[in-house]
Amino acid sequence: MQSGTASATALVTAALRVAHQAYDDGRVFHDPFAEDMLGPEGAPLMMGLPIVPGYRTMRFLMAARSRYADDALAEAVVRGCRQVVVLGAGLDTLGLRNPHRAAGLRIFEVDHPTTQADKRRRLLRFGPRLPVGLSLVPAIFGDSDLAGGLAAAGWQADEPTFFQMLGVAVYLPAAVRQALLGFVAGLATPEIVLDYSTPPDRQSPEGRAVTEAQMIEAEKIGEPWLGLVTPEALASELADLGLADIEDLDLRQLRQLYLGEAPTSGGDFGPHVLRARCPG
Ligand SMILES: C[S@@+](CC[C@H](N)C(=O)[O-])C[C@H]1O[C@@H](n2cnc3c(N)ncnc32)[C@H](O)[C@@H]1O
Repeated sequence: MQSGTASATALVTAALRVAHQAYDDGRVFHDPFAEDMLGPEGAPLMMGLPIVPGYRTMRFLMAARSRYADDALAEAVVRGCRQVVVLGAGLDTLGLRNPHRAAGLRIFEVDHPTTQADKRRRLLRFGPRLPVGLSLVPAIFGDSDLAGGLAAAGWQADEPTFFQMLGVAVYLPAAVRQALLGFVAGLATPEIVLDYSTPPDRQSPEGRAVTEAQMIEAEKIGEPWLGLVTPEALASELADLGLADIEDLDLRQLRQLYLGEAPTSGGDFGPHVLRARCPG
């Protein structure tokens, strides 16, 4: 990320969620705050969306990964979890939507300090204070003391916590991703939903073309993709950490799940959404 500038990719992913509300009626992921979170400066972004590589696929993926995380969080809340940590929150609106506020769910958004300062300004458009139950924790992954920052914001390390890390893993070098997953795995009842992308040489020709175009754009705006990983390597990384109960869905499986499409062959498009927990 370019220092001193809020994440540009966080704006694009937020705009894709707005487009999902506008053009797909939010049918996979309903987000009543998406448009206002993006705000008036979203208009030029929205106009530029059709040139985003794989635009329609990305519009679906942004909705699907948020929906998947919301559903997994709801299950965790039923099991008694009352804390969620959103790693690399960007303009995610969970803090505003908090579907489990009445149950006392606390949300800790962690993000790069510059992106988070911009997010705080946006949140304060919705009211004079941050939404009830939401805390903002500035941190740079691979650099900051994450546990210390969370604890200072009131996070209880010994209480169950659900982690969500969407649209972040591709930007992190493997060692930083592994350190974050290690931190999650070291907790009492670890659970995380994240998405990642496979390397282009593992993808279908269509997926590879989109990924390579996205990687060029990401590099140009100073947010290079540093963390592509195969499903096998990630599963083994997670299993080594004790997070061996894994559900890993590729794009076709997500389309089947949320759009009711028939299963297709044709190779891996690239993006995957995954949930990992301890077995048993
Ligand atoms: C593509 S955005 C995704 C935002 C949001 N999760 C979403 O789905 O819309 C990537 C996010 O990761 C954050 N990020 C990337 N690298 C980071 C790092 N090393 N430390 C902290 N945050 C980071 C960015 O600030 C940004 O908010």
